[in-house]
Amino acid sequence: MSVYLTDCETMTEMKPVTEATAVKAPVLPDAQTVQEVKHWTDSLFSFKVSRPASLRFRSGEFVMIGLLGDNGKPLLRAYSIASPSWDEELEFYSIKVQDGPLTSKLQHIKPGDQIILRPKPVGTLVHDALLPGKRLWFFATGTGFAPFASLLREPQTYEDYDEVIITHTCREVAELEYGRQLIESIRQDEMLAELIGEGFADKIRYYPTTTREESPKMGRITNLLKDGTVFADLGIEGGIQPDTDRAMVCGSLAFNLDIKAILEEFGLREGANSEPKEFVIEKAFVG
Ligand code: A2P
Repeated sequence: MSVYLTDCETMTEMKPVTEATAVKAPVLPDAQTVQEVKHWTDSLFSFKVSRPASLRFRSGEFVMIGLLGDNGKPLLRAYSIASPSWDEELEFYSIKVQDGPLTSKLQHIKPGDQIILRPKPVGTLVHDALLPGKRLWFFATGTGFAPFASLLREPQTYEDYDEVIITHTCREVAELEYGRQLIESIRQDEMLAELIGEGFADKIRYYPTTTREESPKMGRITNLLKDGTVFADLGIEGGIQPDTDRAMVCGSLAFNLDIKAILEEFGLREGANSEPKEFVIEKAFVG
């Protein structure tokens, strides 16, 4: 790839400056180093990068990340930070789109490569945007799981709520794997138990569903909410209640609109940082 920082010392001191080596390599602004890359399916991967010392964020927020485009200008997209606010590294979970301007290139990063990361976190999937409640729902489709990977490792999630329900709907079983493994690792993580409190993970209820491949629970979460299946499966009486239930939603635009309508039917209102209410929504990055 043509986007890496070049080792200038090698260029100027070790090699004779020929016309070819004298060409100025592009220097990445806000560069961070890739530390780990994991490919989950042909269309999904996750990666970790170094965290700028100055970066403070709230679990659930997103930042702009990217690479230098062919025209030498930064090509950036919004990505939810999948790691919690206390972590030393920054983790991201991404789709691979073969003709996507950014992800067609980003999917090829390797440890040691550099990416651009603008250290200005923002977003509405934060605890501050919700009024106090007892039960917190995370509704995700596809890579919309990312902000919840952060919030599921955030101590405040368990300080503020008695129960945390994470639903994840994907087309195929393999697309659930990142989330499934993350939740499993959270349940076994002794360091997290020490940080958050012994037994915290017992509050997590994981509800994965698939729509295009056979799995133990099939169907769009929207339909399973509307026909009451989710509540029957989880033993929840009375459905979603505005006085106790809070929700965060992250998926495609169509998904977000459908869930919003369902939550509003249950009497919940959409909140924001400046005006906390009962649910908040963010669109997952695609492309
Ligand atoms: P479906 O297979 O029925 O379209 P996508 O890959 O298109 O972003 O979808 C990810 C998952 O989200 C799929 O399981 C898909 O189901 C589901 N999904 C997409 N749109 C909606 C929606 N409007 N409401 C509920 N689920 C949706």
